[in-house]
Amino acid sequence: MSAITLVVTNRKGGSGKTSTAVNVAAELAFLGQRVLLIDLDTQSHCALGLGVKLTKSTPTIHGFFAGKHALTPAIQSTQWENLNLIPADPLFEHGSGIKDDFLLRTALTSEGILEQYDILILDTPPSLDTLLLNALYSADRVLVPFLPHFLAGEGVRQLARVLFRVGSNRANEGVRMLVGYVPIMIDKRIGQHKQVSGNVSSQFGATRMLPGVRNDIRVAESFAVGMPVRYYAPKTRATLDYRSLTLSLRHLLDGTDK
Ligand SMILES: Nc1ncnc2c1ncn2[C@@H]1O[C@H](COP(=O)(O)OP(=O)(O)OP(=O)(O)O)[C@@H](O)[C@H]1O
Ligand SMILES: [Mg+2]
Repeated sequence: MSAITLVVTNRKGGSGKTSTAVNVAAELAFLGQRVLLIDLDTQSHCALGLGVKLTKSTPTIHGFFAGKHALTPAIQSTQWENLNLIPADPLFEHGSGIKDDFLLRTALTSEGILEQYDILILDTPPSLDTLLLNALYSADRVLVPFLPHFLAGEGVRQLARVLFRVGSNRANEGVRMLVGYVPIMIDKRIGQHKQVSGNVSSQFGATRMLPGVRNDIRVAESFAVGMPVRYYAPKTRATLDYRSLTLSLRHLLDGTDK
């Protein structure tokens, strides 16, 4: 069986991509799935969030893109069973490196990495560059976290256009790649949150709107101590919400034919 590749993306910065990627990865690993998280963003926050320490000589995804080594040497284990990480290089300059949009996809297949996992989760930078395109061309499915604020709808529409382009290029419908949208930091008392989520839902279909994650300071705190929130604060609302999100996501992915 070959792993499903799930790309977590949104062109808008600070929309909860990394928090979602790390916490969904941890939840799936806890449920027994073999998970590889790949951090394409040079902010390198996934390693922080999982308490993985890097040195200057640690192989990274960006070292791979710079042609320094293959992809496999960059796989690191974490403190959590079933959860591995390919970290990012905080010193890599976005825009540098090899200009091949299919490099990642080719290596995932040729190095046999897809055979070793149930799911690959790719966290992406907000910029539209070779790194993001490499992620999208490797994707079976795309998950879009968004903040339910006024401008979010436009960001989501822009992303949908990029997905459509990438999707048609792969002779695969762009929309088919979309597993869903997740509203992040929701507060049901705020009318605008309901309205924006409602708009996204009516535009892209209610079945693509996944259960959201409430505003919870524990998400930021758990990153600061290098742990997924489920281990840092098992009963906090973000832990409960990431669990529901992951179960819904798994249900949708289970119905996925690659
Ligand atoms: N459910 C939540 N409740 C409260 N704060 C949250 C929640 N989810 C994420 N955050 C906080 O929001 C900020 C942005 O989140 P995150 O880094 O996950 O977004 P991002 O889309 O990866 O950002 P970037 O585009 O910079 O990579 C962080 O400070 C994070 O701790
Ligand atoms: Mg991020």
